[in-house]
Formats: sequence, C-alpha cells, structure tokens
Amino acid sequence: MIEIEKVTAGYGDGPDILHGINLNADGGEIVTILGPNGCGKSTLLKTIAGFVKPRSGRVLLNDTDLTPVPANEKVRYHRMGFVPQSDNIFRTLTVAENIAMGARFLPKAERAAAVQRQFKAYSTLADKANRKASALSGGERQLLSLARALVSNPTVLLLDEPSAGLSPAMVHEVFEAIADIRDRTGMCIVMVEQNAFEALGVADRAYVLALGQVALEGRAKELLADPAMRHLYLGGEPEATVTTT
Ligand SMILES: Nc1ncnc2c1ncn2[C@@H]1O[C@H](COP(=O)(O)OP(=O)(O)OP(=O)(O)O)[C@@H](O)[C@H]1O
Ligand SMILES: [Mg+2]
Repeated sequence: MIEIEKVTAGYGDGPDILHGINLNADGGEIVTILGPNGCGKSTLLKTIAGFVKPRSGRVLLNDTDLTPVPANEKVRYHRMGFVPQSDNIFRTLTVAENIAMGARFLPKAERAAAVQRQFKAYSTLADKANRKASALSGGERQLLSLARALVSNPTVLLLDEPSAGLSPAMVHEVFEAIADIRDRTGMCIVMVEQNAFEALGVADRAYVLALGQVALEGRAKELLADPAMRHLYLGGEPEATVTTT
C-alpha cells in the first residue's frame, strides 16, 4: 500500500536527516518505526504524510507516486490520516468539536454520523463529548487524536508516538485500540514509538532507524528475539565472564 523508495529529506537548507530510506507497509498490518531520539522517526512520518518534501526518492500509495502531493491533499483525496507527536488536539474546543474537525473534508450529510461512529467506538470520549479537550487526561487525549484521525475513514493511518507520556496500563489500552483498528478495518498503520518492546508486541513488522538510516528491519516477533534489539534498547547482554587462571 505504502512504499518509500530511497527517500532523502531534511529541513530548509539544513543537512539531510534521512539518508536513502526504503520502507513498505501493507493494508492490515501495523508497521512500527523505532530508534533513538533524533534519529529521524518523526521526519520520516512527516515525509510520508507530506509535511516534509523528499529531496530525492519517492513516496508511493497503491503504486501512485504521491511524492509532490502536500499533506492537506493527502488527507483530503488520498485517505491518509496523520496524528502528530505533539499539539495533536485543540484544547479550547470540546471533544465533539475536535472529532468534527477531522470530518470537515467529508460530505456535509455524512459528518454527524461519522462523529457518532467514533463515539460508539470510544465510550470514554462519548461520556465527555461536551467537555473541553483541555480537561482530558493524557490517555484520553491520545484516544481523541486517534478518533479525530479515524473519523474521515482513512485507509492509511500514521501515528507519531501514540503512547507518549502514558502510564503502562494506558500504553496497553492505546495499543489495544490500535490493534483493534487494524483487525476491524484492515487499515495500513505506520506507528512511530519509543516504547520499543510494547510496540513490537502489537506490531507486525518494524524498522529500527539510526542516524537517518534503516539499521534493522523485520517481523516484530523476530526482532523481539534478536540480540541486536536487546543491545540497542537494553544496553546489551551481560558480558561473558572471562576467567583467567
Ligand atoms: N522542523 C525542523 N527544522 C529543522 N530541523 C529539524 C526539525 N524537526 C526535526 N529536526 C531535526 O531533525 C533530526 C531528526 O528529528 P526527528 O524529530 O525526526 O527525530 P525523532 O527520531 O522523531 O526524535 P524523537 O524520538 O525525539 O521524537 C533532529 O536532529 C532534529 O533536530
Ligand atoms: Mg519524534
């Protein structure tokens, strides 16, 4: 569904942040992008979404070259949903108004029903429909930003750290919600994460970035068992004890 071919990208006239990235993601799978702070995960997601233009390489959706298409058109005409890493809700609007913002590109007659579908899926949000978004907990805000992206019925969902700042129990709940979206809708989900091991627990495949390049990639289950992953994320296996006599 999504194919990233040899993408190089950066900001303004600054240096390249991404160096020839290849990535693909299909419908019905969660692909997670992992890696240390500053390695280019968000930049890669923003490049797929169209907020950052590649300096070279291509971004394809269902074999159509969307490299030059800006983010707003990707949402509107190519059914891409994007949840940014931060500032992802309108704090002064109510929960219902936030979700309705995501429905603004739908035909007018369909908007109300689309918002109701999200309330049906997320009762926590329905219970607080008329509250200001600023009054929600961190986890509820993540659910709200998810619902706002889902209301337009995307086929591709791009999530930048949906579990950021959540307690372990809430991390689990948000990941369950994301897995449920995959299973119910067959959507293609690309998710940047810091919680590497939890993300691998729910994802189908993963890419580990380092310094703007793909350092490791594979099936999530295999990466979970890969000593190189443990080395990257847990500071390595204990050294074998060498005994000299
Ligand atoms: N808007 C911007 N303008 C200029 N440089 C930027 C911009 N956004 C990010 N960068 C730089 O690009 C590099 C990669 O940043 P990016 O946000 O993609 O990393 P990340 O892997 O998502 O990190 P984190 O885990 O902290 O979210 C960093 O060196 C950062 O300083
Ligand atoms: Mg980031």
